[in-house]
Amino acid sequence: MSLTLQASALRDQVASIIAAAGSSAIEAKQVADNLVLANLSGHDSHGVGMVPRYVDAVAEGGLKPNSSVAVKLDIGTMLTLDGQRGYGQVVGVQAIQMGIERARQHGSCIMTLGNAHHLGRIGHFAEMATAQGLVSMHFVNVLSRPVVAPWGGGDGRFGTNPCCIGIPLAGAEPFLLDYATSRVAQGKMRVAHNKGERVPPGHLIDEHGRPTDDPGVVVVPQSNGLFGALMTFGEHKGYGMAIACELLGGALTGGGTWHRPADTSRTVLNGMLTVLIDPAKLGTQASFDAEARAFIDWLRQSPPGAGFDAVQIAGEPERKARAARQVEGIWVDDATWGEIVAAGAKVGVAIG
Ligand SMILES: NC(=O)c1ccc[n+]([C@@H]2O[C@H](COP(=O)([O-])OP(=O)(O)OC[C@H]3O[C@@H](n4cnc5c(N)ncnc54)[C@H](O)[C@@H]3O)[C@@H](O)[C@H]2O)c1
Repeated sequence: MSLTLQASALRDQVASIIAAAGSSAIEAKQVADNLVLANLSGHDSHGVGMVPRYVDAVAEGGLKPNSSVAVKLDIGTMLTLDGQRGYGQVVGVQAIQMGIERARQHGSCIMTLGNAHHLGRIGHFAEMATAQGLVSMHFVNVLSRPVVAPWGGGDGRFGTNPCCIGIPLAGAEPFLLDYATSRVAQGKMRVAHNKGERVPPGHLIDEHGRPTDDPGVVVVPQSNGLFGALMTFGEHKGYGMAIACELLGGALTGGGTWHRPADTSRTVLNGMLTVLIDPAKLGTQASFDAEARAFIDWLRQSPPGAGFDAVQIAGEPERKARAARQVEGIWVDDATWGEIVAAGAKVGVAIG
């Protein structure tokens, strides 16, 4: 049965499952809060639908509850951290808190985080940094399944490698650009497949490398046992950005790159390169504030194009979704809810 739940009720249900899967009450709450915030932000692909995967990853031994980041190097302006396969919602927050502290002290910080389990919405970390007045840039790779095809290639070779840039704006909400470098997020294909929907052309190739509109090709194994693949956004340019994320988020962090055939593991590891900058320490704070504000005002004066109400800046759709879903609740489709109930049953929690 599908249902609409208020955020607080959904948080409690998810926290009970994560706790039963081995996490402390504090960790379970942190994971649940983060996942429900993704749903509130309109990104169901990175919300509570991830719970079954997390439960399986813990059982597999690929996700280690109650882990903390290990510091491999700390020279103030550079931090090298290892997530030790802990929940990304926990080790990612620990890592970004350390990076924010160093950037406030020294003016900037280059932080690498390898071996974090799924970091969820990368924008969460940029929101933490921009709330402290910092610019933040994130390049992330995904060690899970090679679900995205290279430009000009016919099968999946790397993950949905997200990229995120957060920029604080004086007296206004921040610019918060946060997206997968695949044409769409893999999780959105799971949601579309669960809803029985088709997707527009240009998003997917099937297991033979042919264009398709069936999201199932990247969700369930096809007749020959293989999966199809997602395409990158922006043709060769998005493809280049995806590769930069793999090289920076995977190779430079020490977390590793993907270079092997797909397997059936449920574990999802992320590597993330983060660059944090304090405009105040850079000496350009006053002109940054004025010029950024002037440019955003100028953008907003653009008349609406056909089919649009107004120009928006990145971060606005998520803030609008939060305001609406806080009131209306969060709708969870049948298949996703069924998977969450089954995940609860695996760890002895009856929900529904
Ligand atoms: N942890 C992982 O392994 C992983 C992997 C892939 C994606 N993700 C996450 O998935 C989430 C969803 O990614 P996605 O690619 O589906 O996002 P998306 O395609 O919905 O794009 C989102 C970005 O575009 C902006 N945007 C949307 N509409 C806009 C408009 N009309 N005008 C201006 N800006 C607009 C949003 O504010 C946001 O910055 C992200 O939070 C990403 O970090 C995580």
